Amino acid sequence: MMNHSQSTGADYNYTIVRQFALTTVLWGIFGMSVGVLIAAQLIWPQLNFDTPWLTYSRLRPLHTNAVIFAFGTSALFATSYYVVQRTCQVRLFAPKLAAFTFWGWQAVIIAAAITLPMGFTQAKEYAELEWPIDIAIAIIWISYAIVFFGTIAKRTTSHIYVANWFFGAFIITVAVLHIVNSMAVPVSLFKSYSLYSGAVDAMVQWWYGHNAVGFLLTAGFLGMMYYFVPKQAGRPVYSYRLSIVHFWALIALYIWAGPHHLHYTALPDWTQSLGMVMSLILFAPSWGGMINGIMTLSGAWHKLRTDPVLRFLVVSLSFYGMSTFEGPMMAIKTVNALSHYTDWTIGHVHSGALGWVAMVSIGSLYHLIPILFGHGRMYSMKLVNVHFWLATIGTVLYIVSMWISGVMQGLMWRAVNSDGTLTYSFVESLEASYPFYFVRFIGGCFFLTGMFLMAYNVIRTVKAPKDTLPAIAEA
Ligand code: HEM
Ligand code: HEM
Repeated sequence: MMNHSQSTGADYNYTIVRQFALTTVLWGIFGMSVGVLIAAQLIWPQLNFDTPWLTYSRLRPLHTNAVIFAFGTSALFATSYYVVQRTCQVRLFAPKLAAFTFWGWQAVIIAAAITLPMGFTQAKEYAELEWPIDIAIAIIWISYAIVFFGTIAKRTTSHIYVANWFFGAFIITVAVLHIVNSMAVPVSLFKSYSLYSGAVDAMVQWWYGHNAVGFLLTAGFLGMMYYFVPKQAGRPVYSYRLSIVHFWALIALYIWAGPHHLHYTALPDWTQSLGMVMSLILFAPSWGGMINGIMTLSGAWHKLRTDPVLRFLVVSLSFYGMSTFEGPMMAIKTVNALSHYTDWTIGHVHSGALGWVAMVSIGSLYHLIPILFGHGRMYSMKLVNVHFWLATIGTVLYIVSMWISGVMQGLMWRAVNSDGTLTYSFVESLEASYPFYFVRFIGGCFFLTGMFLMAYNVIRTVKAPKDTLPAIAEA
């Protein structure tokens, strides 16, 4: 049998992995640039230049779609196609279908980047795209499932490595979520009405929305974590048994937690309480997984001093731990009464999105890209280190400023005078938020600058003649 670690890549289909890896960087820069622009618009509204397609309301969904479905999902395509081949020790099943998933996905991204600024939307968060694009997504996603599970089916190993379980759950669940939530009646090429109405519509939407977080932004990236953290640390997973318990507990619980997005709404009270309780229990598997990842470094902690790629991966796990502690807290109804509608939610989102999703992807890509292009390391490890600090400081500036402004907003909105009138007008709370919006903007600029450094480093790595960048000897 082929030696796993010595494989040159000639045996595997790396073309598709290279394509998705490079587009991850490209779409990351695009999505985060839009993020920085909308962060700036919240301070200087005139930055919409009185142009409809540059208005905040149209660019915000462009940002969320670009970072989640173009950047994040490309990273998941790249890593899942790589990991499934390496751990099953076979070439990818149905290479033409795999190529179709790449080109199809790029077409979907471009269609989204055109229609969202034009104002075509179903007005459902994270599911804004109109029905023809939704159908295209469903077809591409089913093709993805065929390629992934086809590869698992023809594996030459007896075992299915745990990372593939997480990737597999992510692929199946996202297909189900997308198809059920997108059910709509088209009235024209760019307009449709949801099949659901009222509270049912809200419930289906947040069953989708929360599980997009749970299965796309969490389970998929945990698949990444379970392969790249042990590889980069040069250690086996701390506890394989814990990883299996982690998997079943996580997928069994996430699916129930959606109603925490709909506290104090027309949703029946018992569903809200169920969502709250399930969210609280979800803390346990989340931290089990985080601890399993971090403890994988046992015996390799010294590597953190010299290896910025490992630093990316470990810090991403710390942010994962932080956001999955914060999430269950925010799901408690009385806490949510303060946090909902405020910037606290935005801070929580980005501690998961920047700290966890983006950093684990960046770390994995810094491991993967040299291998894909026949090298032992990136062109400049110094730049990887600078990127690490820009990303970490950027994330901290973003989330700390949003926590402060969020709690401040919540407290200002609920403050009442002795005669029962409100102490502050809404505009006063907005004025008080400006300094924090500025800090968030600076944090975003830090993070985006890091992405540009990454792009430069990636281009130099890709262009370097084969085997000219040897791995750094261990200190
Ligand atoms: C340079 C980095 C980024 C900046 C400056 C940025 C900025 C922003 C801003 C200003 C908003 C709107 C906040 C509001 O409406 O009050 C937002 C929303 C959002 N962003 Fe980002 N973002 C960045 C990166 C990311 C990444 C990498 C992801 C995901 C992987 C992400 C996911 C989201 C999501 C899901 C929302 C919607 C949150 C909600 O509705 O509660 N962002 N972002
Ligand atoms: C145990 C895990 C988690 C729980 C229980 C949880 C819980 C929550 C709660 C209660 C909210 C606020 C809902 C509201 O008031 O509207 C929220 C919002 C959100 N969370 Fe989490 N969270 C968890 C982990 C994560 C992670 C790891 C991410 C990854 C990126 C994430 C992304 C989001 C997003 C995008 C939203 C905003 C949704 C929206 O309103 O647009 N969460 N979460």
